[in-house]
Amino acid sequence: MSKALEQLQQEVDKRRTFAIISHPDAGKTTLTEKLLLFGGAIRLAGSVKARKASKHATSDWMEIEKQRGISVTSSVMQFDYKGHRINILDTPGHQDFSEDTYRTLTAADSAVMLIDVAKGVEAQTIKLFQVCAKRGIPIFTFINKLDREGRNPFELMEEIERVLGIRSVPMNWPIGMGRELCGVYDRMKNQVELFQGDDHSNIQVTKVKDYTDPVIREMAGEYLHDQLCQDVELLDVAGDPFDLEKVKRGELTPVFFGSAVNNFGVQTFLENFLQLAPKPEPRRSTNGLVEPTNEKFSGYVFKIQANMNPAHRDRIAFLRIVSGKFERGMSVKHVRAGKEIKLSQPQQFLAQDRDIVSEAYPGDIIGLFDPGIFRIGDSLSQGSEVVFDELPTFSPEIFAKVTVKNALKHKQYQKGIDQLTEEGTIQVFTTVGFEDTLLGVVGQLQFEVFEYRMKGEYGVDVQLQRMPFQFARWIVADKIDPSKFRINSTLVKDKKGNYVALFENEYAMRTAMEKNPDAQFLETAP
Ligand code: G4P
Repeated sequence: MSKALEQLQQEVDKRRTFAIISHPDAGKTTLTEKLLLFGGAIRLAGSVKARKASKHATSDWMEIEKQRGISVTSSVMQFDYKGHRINILDTPGHQDFSEDTYRTLTAADSAVMLIDVAKGVEAQTIKLFQVCAKRGIPIFTFINKLDREGRNPFELMEEIERVLGIRSVPMNWPIGMGRELCGVYDRMKNQVELFQGDDHSNIQVTKVKDYTDPVIREMAGEYLHDQLCQDVELLDVAGDPFDLEKVKRGELTPVFFGSAVNNFGVQTFLENFLQLAPKPEPRRSTNGLVEPTNEKFSGYVFKIQANMNPAHRDRIAFLRIVSGKFERGMSVKHVRAGKEIKLSQPQQFLAQDRDIVSEAYPGDIIGLFDPGIFRIGDSLSQGSEVVFDELPTFSPEIFAKVTVKNALKHKQYQKGIDQLTEEGTIQVFTTVGFEDTLLGVVGQLQFEVFEYRMKGEYGVDVQLQRMPFQFARWIVADKIDPSKFRINSTLVKDKKGNYVALFENEYAMRTAMEKNPDAQFLETAP
């Protein structure tokens, strides 16, 4: 093995690239911050939180983002921990939930599903989970806020299976909960981690024989120990055994209990996660699977973020490196454009600021300065014509008819729509027969971003009229009869001319399915 290849292999082996999926308020910001603190990537607890809440973000984010103190588009955080290099992909929640959130998941090799112990599986978690499940990536679960009164852990496991369709295997088990919480029992390592002190700031780790060890009784008291024995016995007898192959295939999720805000169980979680989570995975392409240790550099654009600097019209294209070593200034082929381009000012994303990066490896995300040459899904590669599989187009859930207020601005309007579609901010549809333009988005904020940017960047005032549709399905059939999509629904075409049916409710969708038994109704574009 050549020295260069050996180094590439080592760099690949130490990397873990993942996203945290959760519903707002489950504690994602808190958990992210604790993870970054372990890696020493941020000095002060509260910095991520501050960024989330700040009205004056340090970097020059879009105006709308500053006004609301939220992050419109997701970013990436990198840190080192005990010989690993970790990339966390941020998936925005709240009002800024968008197709970008989904697309970011395509750049992750695994996901951490964060669940609030009192609330269980919530709406946004379900959506994000489904995107991960479709890719079959491993999912690790962290059940958070154990210091609060929550639901019974068995009930939560049952809910995860019923709602998400995945079996779970608890890696640790709580000893008490809420005010009674005194620690967790680690089933894999046979040890007990106990909270110490009033503020739970210290954690004492004690090796035990197994869960019946009388040492636990001394530490946790009779009542909690009896409860623990009953629970773990049940898990041992009736629960799923740990099976790494099933975890890798996304059929089984290892579950960890903890409390992010108290930093309880977070380090154990991180260490287990780093052991079990996959290193950068190969990606499918026209040349077959591209392995990360392929020495030729390659990657694909999964996200384009505009106007990080409002003084310029520049954009940042986020590239996930799939193979080879990236070096600043290298020339690569922009396959779709059929051109060689030089990657001269790449940026990497640390916890706080953007830094210029001089080298990067598979699993890493780099930000490329984009004067308007990239589209989502574009492949870049060194010395070959590798084209990675297209990124899926996700089904929008909110729709509006768009019109331009001043007809003379039509050209600018069209340009704006084209560019914003390319960036993946919105999806555009044309109604069949009427030729109206409809926009589809995943989160409401995207409409505001659209209006704001059409005015700010293209000088066009647009009017948006909300439409009552909630579901979009791409229709694939030999023959499509628009009259069969009229009841609480409408038929439109997407940018590529594919037929898409929009429905006001599930009933309308089911009716259309019954009327069109030979058609396929797809959730993502064919
Ligand atoms: P998000 O990014 O998923 O939206 O959640 P975030 O971390 O902002 O956490 C939401 C709220 O939950 C915060 O409280 C946070 O402090 C709290 N929280 C996070 N982890 C835990 C935990 O383990 N136990 C308990 N009890 N609470 C937790 P907040 O009141 O909204 O904000 P703050 O003023 O406390 O910061």
